[in-house]
Amino acid sequence: MKEISIVGLGYVGLTFAVSAASRGFRVIGVEVDEHKRRSISEGVSPIYEEGLEPMLREAISKGMLRVTESYGEAVEGSGITFICVGTPSREDGSVDLSQVIESSSRIGEALRNKDGYHLVVVRSTIPPGTTIEVVKKILEERSGKRVGEELGLCFNPEFLREGRAMKDTLNPDRLIIGAYDEKSGKTLLEFYRRFYRDRMPKTLLTNPVNAELIKYANNAFLAMKISYANMVSRICEKLPGADVEVVMDGIGMDKRIERTFLGAGLGWGGSCFPKDTIGFLKFAENLGVDLKLVKASIEINEEQLEHAIELADALIGGLRGKIISVLGLAFKPGTDDVRGSRAIKLVKKLLERGASVKVHDPRAMGKARKILGDDVEYAGSVEECIRGSDLCILATEWPEYRKIRAGDLSKLMRNPAILDCRRLYDPEEFRDVRFAAIGLGLDLWTSEMKRHRERKSTDLVEM
Ligand code: UDX
Repeated sequence: MKEISIVGLGYVGLTFAVSAASRGFRVIGVEVDEHKRRSISEGVSPIYEEGLEPMLREAISKGMLRVTESYGEAVEGSGITFICVGTPSREDGSVDLSQVIESSSRIGEALRNKDGYHLVVVRSTIPPGTTIEVVKKILEERSGKRVGEELGLCFNPEFLREGRAMKDTLNPDRLIIGAYDEKSGKTLLEFYRRFYRDRMPKTLLTNPVNAELIKYANNAFLAMKISYANMVSRICEKLPGADVEVVMDGIGMDKRIERTFLGAGLGWGGSCFPKDTIGFLKFAENLGVDLKLVKASIEINEEQLEHAIELADALIGGLRGKIISVLGLAFKPGTDDVRGSRAIKLVKKLLERGASVKVHDPRAMGKARKILGDDVEYAGSVEECIRGSDLCILATEWPEYRKIRAGDLSKLMRNPAILDCRRLYDPEEFRDVRFAAIGLGLDLWTSEMKRHRERKSTDLVEM
């Protein structure tokens, strides 16, 4: 089966479509947004993702990927349909399934007229139980066929990270396949064997509800690791000489824990962690289960932003009337995505506290402007951003920001001071300006602290 269809060409769907095309599958993409359809058909990616656009151009020019709005054409022309539509949060934090419902209905209708076996695979993140209780029901109702007979159904979560979406799709850590029945599982496994050939990832084959739970519990666990680091960072800030980075290095050397996702900072943002942690919490609440660790992780994440504001306030003695430059607006480096960006929330809080804000980001200025409008000044360069300001806040750790030196701050700023919210800088390099960082013990710029640092023995011995 060399033809597949993919419904929804957002981050997940588009990277998957382009990757599958590069592996020799003919892909039909279904996209409701006309602007996106046109852009993708012309080989122009509507999102920035490293490596995506050249591969998209190739897929389009070779005719391996074509885009349509017709479900009939997609279902008729393929043996497997992957659902990759959005599942945003509602106001109350619960999951909005309307796009999953709509696409399942349309796929079901198209299946009514199709002969032969067809497999439907849900890749969108959905609450446990949805594949069987919602998708299966709709498919059967609309198609007049039975799942487990003429139709197959799987839930197959993705774990791709923005900024590494192509690499994560082409070379994932593992595959999780939640199959309704044996034939569905075998059909999807066969597809992935062709996709990955001799580099088939470790695979867990289970039922849909376990696979749905794996996706939620996985993201909640990673979010919890970050909140754990942020919790420890608070104690570090109270203890002279303590540094959360060193503490996490030590903890991370334990193979049972690992260093990844222990980066203290402004907390987690993005399009997944905020919505998936709350979605998981709400879902469990309805079952009468209190996910205390997830709840505490969300609380810590929220507090972390306010805490950064307090650090800024303490560092420069009040925020009202001050000019503050914020470096980085994307929710993390390597993307132009500002969804759930902590940096944007930080900017809003600074404005609420009466500060004037100048912002810079290497890629996300366009998307940030749509949210922040005329409330801030947009700087074309780092120098322009920090020039004349009273405080520089590093909010997203783009590698190019590492080049900033204490001398640049002294030369350009009205009052040289920097708050490192993503632990990008070596505090030693900033000893001559006011410097504070998340998770770094006491006022580094005071002479008492300087003396303490000089006495301090080496924290990490390179062997
Ligand atoms: C995440 C998951 O990693 C991925 O598996 C899932 O499919 C989608 O959600 P993504 O949202 O792209 O991916 O970003 P990720 O790199 O995981 O970072 C999420 C947020 O956590 C960012 O705001 C980042 O700045 C923050 N983060 C990450 C930390 O604050 N500290 C860390 O140590 C790691």
